[in-house]
Amino acid sequence: MSDLTFMKIALRLSLKGLGYTEPNPLVGAVVVKGGRILSCGHHRGFGAPHAEAMALERLGVSGTTLYLTLEPCSHTGKTPPCADLIIARRVRRVVVAMIDPNPLVNGSGIARLRAAGIATAVGLCRDQAERINRHYLKYIRTHAPYVAIHAGLSLDGKLSDDAGRSHWVTSEELRRLAHSLRGEFSAIMAGSGTVRADDPLLTLREAGWVGKKLYRVVLDSQNALPRSLRIIRELDDFPLVIFSSRHAADRSPRTRHHYFVDSDGNGLDLGEVLANLGRLGIASVLVEGGGRLIDSFVRQRRFDEVVLFYAPKIVGGSGATRLAEALELRDFRLSELASGFILRGFRPCSPD
Ligand SMILES: NC(=O)c1ccc[n+]([C@@H]2O[C@H](COP(=O)([O-])OP(=O)(O)OC[C@H]3O[C@@H](n4cnc5c(N)ncnc54)[C@H](OP(=O)(O)O)[C@@H]3O)[C@@H](O)[C@H]2O)c1
Repeated sequence: MSDLTFMKIALRLSLKGLGYTEPNPLVGAVVVKGGRILSCGHHRGFGAPHAEAMALERLGVSGTTLYLTLEPCSHTGKTPPCADLIIARRVRRVVVAMIDPNPLVNGSGIARLRAAGIATAVGLCRDQAERINRHYLKYIRTHAPYVAIHAGLSLDGKLSDDAGRSHWVTSEELRRLAHSLRGEFSAIMAGSGTVRADDPLLTLREAGWVGKKLYRVVLDSQNALPRSLRIIRELDDFPLVIFSSRHAADRSPRTRHHYFVDSDGNGLDLGEVLANLGRLGIASVLVEGGGRLIDSFVRQRRFDEVVLFYAPKIVGGSGATRLAEALELRDFRLSELASGFILRGFRPCSPD
């Protein structure tokens, strides 16, 4: 078993905290001696013990090698410095995937270990570690959340039919996966158009996300959403954040987190919206639409990732096309190439 093998185990462990640690990072730790894993740990959630503490706290063995997906902290936050714990446990060697860019750490954790005579190696699986912690990295460097755009689309790029119905663009299976995706983020965002059209709750109801806290964010320039909408309800695990324009006729807050920000002809200032979310400690946002909001994020280059769920159907564009009348392709096949992908599918009754 090599350094690479143990680091990969630590990376996989770090993912166990996915959705629960923000604005903290995902971290995994593996302690090894004589080629055998003695203990493991991962950061389970915000405010919970760090991965290093979980792995080392009750271990009485010295002379070990510790594999960490992120540099250990060297400052006292909610928990004492992990670098000191590593030194106290007389670890012989520490292998770290990436330096923690948090200004409170940023190399000082490694420096403290080296000063104590512990051998260190930095950079093994760095790309993978950075990918896993992409929300944290964006947040810690910019103080604004990582933004992923999500949409369920037909093959011809329709989010809904001409009547604005979007519920059934994708299959139940895809919708369940899309719903569960919410759990990986700290907040979900929708525009007032979607909230009015679909009256969604914007919560997380998929099993597997027990105790998950998720902010619901709505952009409503005029502060005019009807009080009868389901989203206006305050739910403990799903706090509601509303953004409206500074120039809205009605400036009375609808929720504990109601912000009034700049706006122009294209809607609210997304930079200001994201900066406010960052101040709330929100490290990642899943933008769920609709079309106008997604268009704003794309045009203003305010997104980091897209997650598109495609249904193998063609809705078509003109007249009163209904989703129920969309043409569903059968026996479709997807071929992936380095520069794109090819989809081949058949019309249900072709040839007719
Ligand atoms: N298939 C899918 O995945 C999916 C997902 C979501 C929604 N949808 C569908 O999309 C449709 C609604 O989409 P939509 O395009 O009409 O509305 P939308 O994008 O949900 O909301 C747009 C509205 O948000 C407000 N807004 C505030 N700041 C904005 C900004 N910077 N950029 C853009 N909008 C801003 C504006 O209204 P105010 O001036 O009132 O603030 C704007 O009209 C519905 O039919 C819904 O079912 C489909």
